Amino acid sequence: MRGLPPYALATVLQARDEKLRQGVDVIDLGVGNPDMRPPRIVIEALEAALEDPRVQNHRYPSFNGLPEFRAGVAAWYAKRFGVTLDPAREAMALVGSKEGIFKFFLAHFDPGDTLLLCTPCYPAYIGQAAIAQIRVVEVPLVASRGFLPDLAAIPTVEAQRARAIAVNFPNNPTGGVETAAFYEELLRFARANDLFVISDIAYCDLSLDPGYRARSFLEFDRDRERTIEFHSFSKSYSMQGWRVAFAAGEPGALARMHQLKSNTDYGVFMAIQRAAMAALAGGDAYGAEVSGIYRARRDAFLDAIAPLGFPVTPPRATIYVWLPIPRRFANALEFTRELLDTTGVVVAPGSGFGAAGEGYVRVALCDGEARLREAGARMAKAGLGY
Ligand SMILES: Cc1ncc(COP(=O)(O)O)c(C=O)c1O
Repeated sequence: MRGLPPYALATVLQARDEKLRQGVDVIDLGVGNPDMRPPRIVIEALEAALEDPRVQNHRYPSFNGLPEFRAGVAAWYAKRFGVTLDPAREAMALVGSKEGIFKFFLAHFDPGDTLLLCTPCYPAYIGQAAIAQIRVVEVPLVASRGFLPDLAAIPTVEAQRARAIAVNFPNNPTGGVETAAFYEELLRFARANDLFVISDIAYCDLSLDPGYRARSFLEFDRDRERTIEFHSFSKSYSMQGWRVAFAAGEPGALARMHQLKSNTDYGVFMAIQRAAMAALAGGDAYGAEVSGIYRARRDAFLDAIAPLGFPVTPPRATIYVWLPIPRRFANALEFTRELLDTTGVVVAPGSGFGAAGEGYVRVALCDGEARLREAGARMAKAGLGY
């Protein structure tokens, strides 16, 4: 526990709750917590699974997921990315990818092993690596490089020492996206340094730019030589409270996770797996619809803050705007506090996302267009421009 930092958002959420107690009209853009209902077909599939007398959904599930669920994952990879997976060995259900990533860290790394972690990143990576006693070397994602890491700038000694590199595109929190050329370079780099690649595609269905369609790293590491990829139902299908996700990739890594999971948890409630299968098979239209909603929200917020002069890169994907803090603030936490005090708007300070996140705040597009415009208007009224 000594090496474990407090969860990034904890202090901000405490401050938010205090404002709520005082009766402030808070606009909460702090957590990436989708406010939409899951697809109708998913809710119907859950209802059907709960009542189905032919299957014993209520019993203990298997550790790595129903064979039908894993077959559904393989079919989704084939349809979405043209990637062929063996569902028996190369796919696994998870109780959310937050759980899965942690189990993978424990199963794959020995204490003291090095992870090259592209940051800013989903904060759980940082805390989980600390618990697993992984030595983290941060690889910065900066606006001037389109939020893609500069692999050539990683010191050779660190690249050779590391066991794995973790990437997340489309990226939380920057909204940066991968390119085919970058993934090709990443595979060459991983091979040259004998690195495992951890790819997190939690936002792959949430394209805010109609010209962008996310790739899987398994399109590049086609033989599943050195990749584990995580995907979640939380953002694509607004099912974050259901706790269901999956991992796909190198069979040895999945087997080690299976061994760990079999000693520490059970799998996902089987009725939820069946509902999640409905999302994979028939949720494409939903993904397109919610992407449209997030796109309109992004535009509404960027429109509202346009007069304030922020040098912001409009995100091409995800549900976040990565906003540089006004120059007069010393750090992201100070700006976050001032924003909450003067406008009631809650954002996440970038410093919680890793060293490269300092100087930014993350705005989650998890409220309606009118509220996002209102947030921008309050910032203008409070003189909180760049
Ligand atoms: C990049 C990334 N990975 C994983 C997760 C965790 O998702 P899950 O709900 O599947 O645990 C999140 C949640 O915000 C995320 O942003």
